[in-house]
Amino acid sequence: MRIILYSGKGGVGKTSISAASGLEAARRGYKTLVMSVDPAHSLSDAFDLEKDLMDHEAGRLVNVAKNLWIQEVDVLEEISRHWNSVYSYVAALLNVSGLEQTLAEELAIFPGMEEVSSLLYVNQYVREKSFDVVILDCAPTGESLRFVSIPTTLEWYMSKIFKLERRVASVVRPMVHSFVGVPLPEEQYFKNLEELHRKLSGIDKLMADPKITTVRLVTNPEKVVLKETQRAFTYFCLYGLTVDAVIINRILPEAVSDQFFTAWKTTQERWIRRVEEFFSPVPVWRVPMFRDEVLGVERLKRLGRALYGSSDPAKRYFDQAPYSFRKVSGDYHLHLRLPFVQAEHVDLYKKLDELVIRVGGYKRHIALPQRVAHCEPESACVKDGELVVVMRRNNAQRETKQPKVASRTPE
Ligand SMILES: Nc1ncnc2c1ncn2[C@@H]1O[C@H](COP(=O)(O)OP(=O)(O)OP(=O)(O)O)[C@@H](O)[C@H]1O
Ligand SMILES: [Mg+2]
Repeated sequence: MRIILYSGKGGVGKTSISAASGLEAARRGYKTLVMSVDPAHSLSDAFDLEKDLMDHEAGRLVNVAKNLWIQEVDVLEEISRHWNSVYSYVAALLNVSGLEQTLAEELAIFPGMEEVSSLLYVNQYVREKSFDVVILDCAPTGESLRFVSIPTTLEWYMSKIFKLERRVASVVRPMVHSFVGVPLPEEQYFKNLEELHRKLSGIDKLMADPKITTVRLVTNPEKVVLKETQRAFTYFCLYGLTVDAVIINRILPEAVSDQFFTAWKTTQERWIRRVEEFFSPVPVWRVPMFRDEVLGVERLKRLGRALYGSSDPAKRYFDQAPYSFRKVSGDYHLHLRLPFVQAEHVDLYKKLDELVIRVGGYKRHIALPQRVAHCEPESACVKDGELVVVMRRNNAQRETKQPKVASRTPE
């Protein structure tokens, strides 16, 4: 079983490349699903399917070729089927802040609910062994990061906050119905979250296992797009996912000689050279700009051939997990790949049995293995695109240290 995420900035070609990869995998005999995680679905448009058909099949699996299915998860339908009480609590929350009821309900698509619904399906398909390859056509970068952070965030919430919050609510509820004007969640809300947690259990390990899950970053040879690709690469590493390829899409072909494109060609060539330096040793693939939109099965197949040639899309092209613990003369060293990051942008501290690492606006709780959980972060540095945290056992010291992250190896 393989799970492959195609992520990148808005409009770079994620949906076209996901669809083309699905067709190529299916042609090779893999039972394949391409699922759209982007609430602004355009997968069926890429396959040039009738709108009526997709409306009729909303949210379901649609067979589009031999061995190939697509699914556009319908989040409103998912909420009304499974998560009504979570949804109504959030709607109520928004309502107290003075919003009209109908508007509040529209806004109450629980943060990350689209992503949660897709994750639930992925986990179900993995458990039921329904497909050999599941391709996820992700929303633009920010939302896809939210998608991959859900399993670890939910795990953290359930183990650290959930029980306490539930106990407080059950104690306080008989006395007051709201707390500083905010309604208290009903017991059903907690039951639903518990159910959600149970249904999602295991997905965090699947996503962090490079043998199963890898991310392919789609980019264009332009400065602004590449900057975002670099940031995405860093954050996927932070969340423990392995990027196994970077795809440069929409490269102007050699044959284009019109003067209008001269400056574009020079710019593209410059950035294409840099991409290899930036992302090495992760492989970089190139896809030309086609003469027209990539619509319908025939054009998508052509895109698939340009992308993979005779290679297998389901193969793992790079499988080094982004982080590991190593024992070094009595200490434990956490190595976390964090390219394109400067020391001053990284913050870290230990809280109980986890290490909290913050990079820019993103935060990751890394659960420490038992043997490391009693160690304290002694020092940290960023070097050659890697964050190294030295964890040292210190029996005498109970308080938590927060080392400053240095940009070179500590003495
Ligand atoms: N190599 C290519 N040559 C020509 N057109 C392309 C190529 N790749 C993608 N396109 C076209 O560019 C447009 C945007 O592509 P696509 O929808 O795949 O991007 P996306 O990254 O999924 O966008 P969004 O972020 O909106 O989901 C589509 O019209 C698609 O047909
Ligand atoms: Mg898309």
